[in-house]
This record gives sequence, structure tokens and C-alpha cells, in this order.
Amino acid sequence: MNVFTGRESPDATTPDGRHTGGTGTARPRIEGRAKVTGGARYAADIPMRDLAFGAIVVSTVSRGRIGDIDVSAVQDMPGVLGVIDHRNAPRLNPGAGHFFGPDGGLLLLQDDVIPFAGRPVALVVAETLEQAQAAAEALPVTYDAQPHDTDFSADHPAGRPALALFDGPVNVGDVDAELAASTVVVDERYRTPEEHCSAMEPHSATAWWEGGRLQAVDSNQGPFSVAGVLATLFSLDLERVRVRTEHVGGGFGSKGMCGPQLILAVMATTRFGRPVRVTLTRRQVFLTTALRPPTDQPIRIGAEADGRLRAIHHEPVFAISPLAEYIEGCTELTKTLYAAPAIRTRLTAVPLDILPPYSMRGPGAAPGSFALESAVDELAERLGVDPLELRLRNEPAVGPVSGLPFSSRNLVACLREGARRFGWAARDHRPRMRREGHLLVGTGLAATSFSAGAFPSSASITAEPDGTFTVAIGATDLGTGARTALTTIAADALAVGTERVRLLISDSDLGPAWSAGGSRGTTSWAWAISEAAAKLRDRPRDPARSVTVTADTTRLLGDLPSRERHSYSAVFAEVTVDPATGEVRVRRLLGMFAVGRVVNPLTARSQVVGGMIGGLSMALHEEGVRDPVSGRHVNADFAGYHIAAHADVPDIEADFVPDDEPGIPWGIKGVGEIGNVGTAAAIANAVWHATGSRQRTLPIRLDRVLEEHPLT
Ligand code: MOS
Repeated sequence: MNVFTGRESPDATTPDGRHTGGTGTARPRIEGRAKVTGGARYAADIPMRDLAFGAIVVSTVSRGRIGDIDVSAVQDMPGVLGVIDHRNAPRLNPGAGHFFGPDGGLLLLQDDVIPFAGRPVALVVAETLEQAQAAAEALPVTYDAQPHDTDFSADHPAGRPALALFDGPVNVGDVDAELAASTVVVDERYRTPEEHCSAMEPHSATAWWEGGRLQAVDSNQGPFSVAGVLATLFSLDLERVRVRTEHVGGGFGSKGMCGPQLILAVMATTRFGRPVRVTLTRRQVFLTTALRPPTDQPIRIGAEADGRLRAIHHEPVFAISPLAEYIEGCTELTKTLYAAPAIRTRLTAVPLDILPPYSMRGPGAAPGSFALESAVDELAERLGVDPLELRLRNEPAVGPVSGLPFSSRNLVACLREGARRFGWAARDHRPRMRREGHLLVGTGLAATSFSAGAFPSSASITAEPDGTFTVAIGATDLGTGARTALTTIAADALAVGTERVRLLISDSDLGPAWSAGGSRGTTSWAWAISEAAAKLRDRPRDPARSVTVTADTTRLLGDLPSRERHSYSAVFAEVTVDPATGEVRVRRLLGMFAVGRVVNPLTARSQVVGGMIGGLSMALHEEGVRDPVSGRHVNADFAGYHIAAHADVPDIEADFVPDDEPGIPWGIKGVGEIGNVGTAAAIANAVWHATGSRQRTLPIRLDRVLEEHPLT
């Protein structure tokens, strides 16, 4: 691993040191010690008296109706308190939903209809986890199976326009005329499979009633939004619902929603009158939480002989469920990265009998960039232009579709500095020219962007009589370093040392706040904290009494001028391909990032490196596979669904170019997802360079490398 090149904080090892916040300097996680000593508690770790445990039973058929659930077969088993199914479950409000509208995926145990394999059909509640699991396994459930359709394809007759809440269709210029006038046209399609978020911590919730309020500790990405969904689902006033979240072991999108663990735990505590904990098994994490849908992406790009683009035409198709809307926004980069007189995009959704897809690690942008940045590399190949040079020649002055100015755009700096560090200039652009022993060696690159901005959030700050400050915001730390970042920001906003700041997060009672999602957590929360600090400064104070101020950024966000706001990166990869086995190994990855001002270089670097590892995993390993006969996942576990492990992860270098985001306090753009985007295309392009064979379907499996091109 390369040595971190950013400026080290003088008090980097003493986060409670006497300096002011130190925003912009490297600082280890505040909770690092608690995590490595086992003191940090995750949702399933919270001790609780009189706790009962729920175990979920899921459907084994992909479509149909429940025939019978024979509760009598398990109710006398040791420790069993009872079973909840569609016949006795509390009624839920069908208006409940998420970002994309009402979500039928939330309406668990409401009827006998099976919309997909893995749908929860019952919750068995018992005194211990083992008793609950034993009874759940023993519970006889019969089904009336009906024909299902889990077979995704771009020309599926059920395909229809995707919801256009964002990344809607555009048609600028005359794509067909520009393509006809182009010297070279790439006309290909790229495919990505079902993928799974795979956070290390399985989803867990514990729910109970206390003082007339519904209380829950849950692993999620945003306790306030989850509490809101829960309140709607159970028809409760929001004031009667409190959701807390201590430490969270990753989310990647799958904890952005009100999860099945929480809904079922609330049903169980309501029915049995004692705290109930529901923790998903790893298999259930695969079967019941956010799925990245498969995509099939036809794309056409035309250019002049000198590499200037004339047209980009990108019409991705992805799978959804009839239960809920979702947008896999694969064309955001297509509208952002390159100048072209004609750009046409359109998203098509194909409803299938599958778990409702939802956001996962750079949703839309990650699969979309694989298609776009592979196609641009193919264009460079056919034009005989350096892929780096091709990108530099198509740098837009304004938003290629919107015509809006960029708030700041430092893609060129990422490309040039990345190329310099990677040694790109020495590359022979012809494929299949480098061999080391029996291995083929190649390099590739991809450019990326990821949308930046903030969402409304509120924060409160209390100035205590002892000179300390309590900063309260409904933020969440997924393990990314949010606690550390917000503590330094609060200290700097208040112009005090971090030792005088007490940060409260992860509690829906702290008020409305955006979730840890969309790469907008830190941006949104830092803004609210800054506003609260400014308000406090203006407030006359009696030093003997505490004073609390609350700020909300909703109006301020509305005042932001319209701009193209994005983070950028350039990713470079070097791979080896074994011609005998088809095995691809990534030898080097380098990412240069423009992400606004960097709050904490240590944790920001950790995030983008983590994102690049996710991209490597997407390129080479991750693939949800279904049995076409049953429609069921055949690899809903880490034995069959491969995630990059240490041995797969090479020397990764990641660093930041100077950047800023004007108009947003602290100049933050967010680092959550940009690391993921672009990496898969960079690797696929390097595989082409090594072998001379294009990989247009992810993951780049051994059999695909061998079948598409005999390499011996
Ligand atoms: Mo995310 S995929 O913004 O949690």
C-alpha cells in the first residue's frame, strides 16, 4: 500500500487533543479504539432485558400464493412464543414508501400473495435465537406456485419507460444525423448482472414499546427517514416513533430503507409485549435487502477522425419489481462527461418477479460508467487515438445537456496527474503487446463523475455553561468516519478545540436529517452544523446558562444557483491475464479524485480505496445467479457470491487533486460513491489491452475470457 501523501495532523493520534477542529487534516476515527477493542456496539449487540428473538421464514417459490402455514407443528417446540404470518399480522399502511414512491416491498405479511422468492412469509418468535431458528426451519409452509418470470432481457415485452424523477430521457441535437456524419461509430451493448450490497454487518433490529412510544435500535443509513417510514407503515404519529442506530457495519444502499428486520421486529413486539430482536441471516440479506438490478445497455458513439465526438446515444434497460418504482440512473455520466452536439438517453424498466431493486454502491453511475467508458475506449481503439487524449479533446465548457455552468470541474487535473503517476505516457496503445512470462499484461483507464450536492438537514447546538458544546444531528456513521468528520467541522465552525465538542448522532429524535447516502451525508450535515454554529454566534449569551439553537438548511438549499455539480475521478488499472486459465488479476489501481475540499484525508482516502475495491469486485467477481427453473438465487452466500478478498486486492493508490465546491459550506462534494464508479471500466479496458478481446459483460469471468477469445 502506498504511503499516504496528504498532510498529517499534528494531533492525529489524539483526537481529543487541544487543537481546533483541523478540518482538512488527517485524523483517525474517533471511535477507532472502541471498534478494535470490541467496545463499539452494533444493533445486534445491545443488551436488553426480557429480550425475545424472531427468525424469518422466506418463500421458496418465485410467484404464487401461500397454501398453508402449519403453526401447530412448531408452537410446542422449546421456547416458542408464537408465529406471525399474514393471518394475524398487524395491518400496514399501503401508502408507505421510500424516495421513489409507495413501496409494496414494505408490506410484509399482509396477504397470501408471493411476489418473489425470498419474500418473508412468517416470523417465528422464541425465547432464544437458536429456538427461534429451529422452529423457523421446522415450520411447514406449502405454496400454490404460479408461473414466474425472472428472466431479464433488454427486449422483454414488459419493458416500459422508467420513472423520470431523475435521470430522465434527453434528446439534444440530431443523434442519427451526427452518427451518419461520423468517421467512426461504436455501436455495442454492455451488460451487468444482479449485484448485492453485502455489508459486513447483517441487518438487525430490536424493537420495544416504552412510555407509549415505539422504540427501535436498527442498523440503517438514516434513523430519521427510517422512523418516518415506520410511522407511516404502522399509522403512528412520528413523535411516537424513535429509531436509534449506534455503530453500523456498512450499508452500500441496502440500509437506506426501512428494512424487513425492523418491520417484523415491530410486529413482534406489538404482539408479544416484550422487546424482540430480528437479525437477518447472510442468506436473508441477499434475498430481502436492496438488489442492484441487471442492466443491458445499448450504446452508440460517433466521432470525427480527430476524436471529437459528434453523438452519444445510450438507452439502458434494467429490471425492477412491480411492487416498487426504482431508477437505475445509468445515463448521468452520459449527460456530464463529454461535449457532443447530440446526446440522446432513455431508461427502460422491465418488471420481473424479483425482489424490488434499490440503490447500491454508486447506483446507476457504476453500471452506466462501465458501458460509457468501455465504449469510449473502443472508440479510441478504432480511431487510433490515445484513450487519455480522446477524453481531453472532448472536455465540455458547460453541461453537455443542461447548458449550465459547472460549479467546478477538475476532471482534466485527475486525468493528467493520474497519467503522470501511473506512467501512462510510456504505454504502447496496441493490444496484446506485453507479455511477462506466460502472462499477458495490459493497462486501461476510465474517467468518471458523480453528482454532488446536499439535501435538507437540521442540527442543534447547545452551548453548555462549562464551555463545552453539544452538537446534535440525525446523522449516521456507517464506518466511514462521519463521527470524526462532523466533530472536526463542528469544532471549526465553533472555533473551539474538538475536546469541547460532544457529538450526538444516530437518533431520529435529533430531528430531520439526510441519510448516509447518495454521497451527500457529510455535505448535508456539515452545512446544518455550520448554520447552527453561526446562529449560536449571533445569540446573546448568559455564560451561567445553557442555550440551544437549531438550524435547518431547507431554505438555503433552495437558494443555491443551478449548476452542474459533480465530483470527478480518473482511474487507471494494470492487469495480467493468464492465457491458459482466463484468470484476470488486477496488479495496480490508481485513482485521482476531485471531490471538493477534503474534510479528513485519512478517512476520505479509505472511502475511495474501498470504493475502488468494490469496483474491482464488480469487474471480476460479483454476480447474482438465478436458477431459471425456480427463479431462485443459487448463490445467496459468500461462498457462491464472490467479493474481492485480500488476495484479490492489489497495490491501490488514491489521492486528491485540489478542488472546491463553491456555494456549499466547506466546499464539500462527497466521497461515498465516486471510488466505485469507473473502476470496472478501467479494468475491462486493461483486459482488452492485455488480450485484444473486449469484455462487454460483467463480471469478467474466466470462461468469458476464454470463450470470447482463445488466448493460447
Ligand atoms: Mo447509497 S447506494 O447512496 O447508500
